[in-house]
Amino acid sequence: MKAIEIKKGVYWVGVIDWDLRNFHGYMTQRGSTYNAYLIIDEKITLIDNVKHYLFNEMIERIASVIDPEKIDYIVQNHIEMDHSSSLPMLLNVCPNAKIYTSPNGEKGLKLHYKKDWNYHAVKSGETLSLGKRTLTFVHTPMVHWPDNMVTYCPEEKILFSNDAFGQHIASSERFDDEYPINIILEEARKYYGNIVLPYGEQVQKALAIVGGLDFDTICNSHGIIWRKHIKEIIAEYVKWSSNEAEERAVIVYDTMWDSTKKMALAVREAFEALDIPVHMMNLQSNHISDIMTELITAKYICVGSPTLNNGILPSVSAFLTYMKGLAPKNRIGLAFGSYGWGGQAVGIVEGILKECGFELLPSFRLQYVPSGDDLNKITDSLIKEIEK
Ligand code: FEO
Repeated sequence: MKAIEIKKGVYWVGVIDWDLRNFHGYMTQRGSTYNAYLIIDEKITLIDNVKHYLFNEMIERIASVIDPEKIDYIVQNHIEMDHSSSLPMLLNVCPNAKIYTSPNGEKGLKLHYKKDWNYHAVKSGETLSLGKRTLTFVHTPMVHWPDNMVTYCPEEKILFSNDAFGQHIASSERFDDEYPINIILEEARKYYGNIVLPYGEQVQKALAIVGGLDFDTICNSHGIIWRKHIKEIIAEYVKWSSNEAEERAVIVYDTMWDSTKKMALAVREAFEALDIPVHMMNLQSNHISDIMTELITAKYICVGSPTLNNGILPSVSAFLTYMKGLAPKNRIGLAFGSYGWGGQAVGIVEGILKECGFELLPSFRLQYVPSGDDLNKITDSLIKEIEK
C-alpha cells in the first residue's frame, strides 16, 4: 500500500472503505474513503486521520514515504470518529506528536478518548510554520460539528477542507479529473443533503472566508480530491447553502393497498400538467438518504401515508423524522393519504411538515379506494392551488 503524491512533498495517505454501506443511517452504495494527508517538511505533519479499523492501511501508506514515528504534528480538523478513532493507535507510534485542533476539538477529543495528549488548541486564523511551508487554521464550526476547522497551506495552494466538499466514494482514483464528474457531483449532492444541509448559514460563512483564499486543490476528507472542478463544486455549495428551492416537486409516499399510491399519481398529474419536473419516491423502494439527495433543491415536498393503527406508516415516520432533522428550508409541503376509518395520518403528516416550517397546500384525504372522479378532483384542485 503506498502513498500518492499530490504535490511535491504532500501525499495522500488515506484509506479506502470499500465495504461501507451505512454511515450512521446514510446509505453509502459506493463505499467511502477517509482521506489523510502527509506533508514532508522540517516538521513532518499529518493532516486528518482515519477510522480505527483501517489504521494499518494508513500506517502502511505513511511508511511508504517516512517512518511514522517521525510525525511531529497531527492536525485534527474534525473529531468525528471517522477521522479520529485511529488517534489512540497513532499516538502509540508517535507519542510526542503535538495535536493541532480547535478548542472544541481538544475538548471533544478528551471526552472521546480520555487521554491527556499533547494538544495545542488553535485560534481561528492562527498559523503554524512547518519549515518551508505554513499552515493557517480557520474555524468552521458546524460544518459539520462544533469543532470543525479547515487548514490552508498557501505555499502549496491547498485547502484541507475535511468534511466540506466530500463525497462517499470508494475508488482507486484520487482526483476529479480521473473519475466521472457527474458521479462525483451526484455523490457530493447526496453528501450535502444528508450531512451538511442543516448548516447552510455556517456553510455560507465558511464559503465567505474560503473565497478569500488562493488555492488550486481541495483536499477533502471523503472521496475524490478536487483540482479541476473547484469552481463547479463551490458554485454548488453556494446554491445548496442558500436554501433557494427550484420549481421542482418530490412525492414521497408509502402505501398499503395502493390507494395512497393512486393519490400520489394524481398529485404527480398536477405537476406534470403545470410542466413542473416531478420525482416519485416510494418509500418501499427508495432509501431515505437517496430521497434527501432528490429534495435538496425541490420547492414542493409532497408526503403521502395511509392511516395505520391510528397513525402513519413507520416508513413515512422514519422519513419525516430524518428530513425534519436535516431541516430543508423555504419549501411548500403537501400531505395526502387514504384511510379506512380513523383517518389520522394526513393530520399527522401535516403537523410534521408544519413543524419543518413549510408553507402548506391544502391536504387530500380519501376513504378506502379512490374513484376516478376523486383522483381527477385531486389533480384539478392541486393545479388551481399551485397556480394561485
Ligand atoms: Fe466525516 Fe463529520 O465526519
